[in-house]
Amino acid sequence: MYYNSYKSIYRNLIVGADTKIPINNGKITTAINFDNAATTPPFISVLKKIINYAPWYSSIHRGVGYKSLLSSKIYEDSRKIVLDFVGANSKKDIVIYVKNTTEAINKLSNTLCNGNKDSVILASDMEHHSNDLPWRNKYKIDYIKVNRCGKLDLKDLEYKLIKNKGRVRLVTIAGASNVTGYVNPIYSIAKISHRYGAKILVDGAQLVPHAPMCMQPHNSEEHIDYLVFSAHKMYAPFGTGVLIGPIDTFKNADPDYSGGGTVETVNHDYVEWKLPPDKEEAGSPNIMGVVALVAAIRNLNRLGMNNIKQYEDSLVKYSIDKFKSLSDVKLYCESKECGPRVGIIPFNINGIPHDITAKILSCEWGIAVRNGCFCAQPYVRKLLGIGEDEEAAYIKDSSIKRPGMVRVSFGMYNDFNEIDVMVNAISQIIKNKEYYLNKYGK
Ligand code: ALA
Repeated sequence: MYYNSYKSIYRNLIVGADTKIPINNGKITTAINFDNAATTPPFISVLKKIINYAPWYSSIHRGVGYKSLLSSKIYEDSRKIVLDFVGANSKKDIVIYVKNTTEAINKLSNTLCNGNKDSVILASDMEHHSNDLPWRNKYKIDYIKVNRCGKLDLKDLEYKLIKNKGRVRLVTIAGASNVTGYVNPIYSIAKISHRYGAKILVDGAQLVPHAPMCMQPHNSEEHIDYLVFSAHKMYAPFGTGVLIGPIDTFKNADPDYSGGGTVETVNHDYVEWKLPPDKEEAGSPNIMGVVALVAAIRNLNRLGMNNIKQYEDSLVKYSIDKFKSLSDVKLYCESKECGPRVGIIPFNINGIPHDITAKILSCEWGIAVRNGCFCAQPYVRKLLGIGEDEEAAYIKDSSIKRPGMVRVSFGMYNDFNEIDVMVNAISQIIKNKEYYLNKYGK
């Protein structure tokens, strides 16, 4: 079912949704942002909160002035709000604030690393580089296969858990793919992983802003042991990322970064670390980022994650139906059934390189998309059907133009009429391929 209204009811909650920008014909148009998987614009309420908080802005954990105490309390109280938002257990789990999802995964990979290179990490063929590279060189890493459509093969997960029985430290999996938008069955994956004694990390960067998330009770087979996500993808700029996991994980390991704020006692040959999360947050904490995140969470809670999900689902269904009517468009995600997924659609126009399509959409229509491999080269190459020989050629010669895709990704404020503008733009490009190829290069 499509929504009755052509306009998003969430549009007026966003800063800059109707920003005017210049395009190539000398005209001014309303920018269309279909690159929300990379970064979302801010909520108005987030910026208001920042302005309201600014007079109280002060150091965290480092002063006894009134503002410093107040700021420290706001900072500490925020942790429970974040934990509650994703159904974590505030008695057993902690929030560690970092810069973004990438830093959160790096931190966890350092923390879990016990020097035993025999330990196995199971990632998958659909992971973002940030959920692949940090695990390499510290562990043996194996990749759960994806099927022809790019969906995770749960049988292969079980096969790899059996093959590496007793040695799999962690199954680390995207909650939703940043390429295809597929939502992985994280609770089934948790169940299977726990059955074989492995823990699970969900990379929630693309899931948490778009659908309800619950880490489930610790004694549930479906419990999500670790969760990471980024505020800048959920309408809250200012550079905060979140790592959630049991306090016990962080108690005994040395922090990956040390320095101010991490220690109880130090002399020249002795260090006593503070308890986590403090010992994991070296340096002055990013209170503005945390204020922004909490304001965004309050807004998301008020709007209801289920409502947001339903609306974004309707955007995806509408676009996929429209895309399917365009004969020269190749979609790289399933088009028959729409769920479960988030609002991300990868495609190419036959005969037009991905970068040129993205450039035309931007320069001629003011539509922002992302193109390339989206920091998920192994997955994109699989979806594109690139063989080993071709891949080897790219490795050998970095001057060969890389293959890729065009990606549209929605936020809650995107409208059906924006999709119509894009679909009309793509049909114009298809009709006038030679013209656009000559204008923007082949
Ligand atoms: N991971 C973000 C993306 O997919 C940056 O665009």
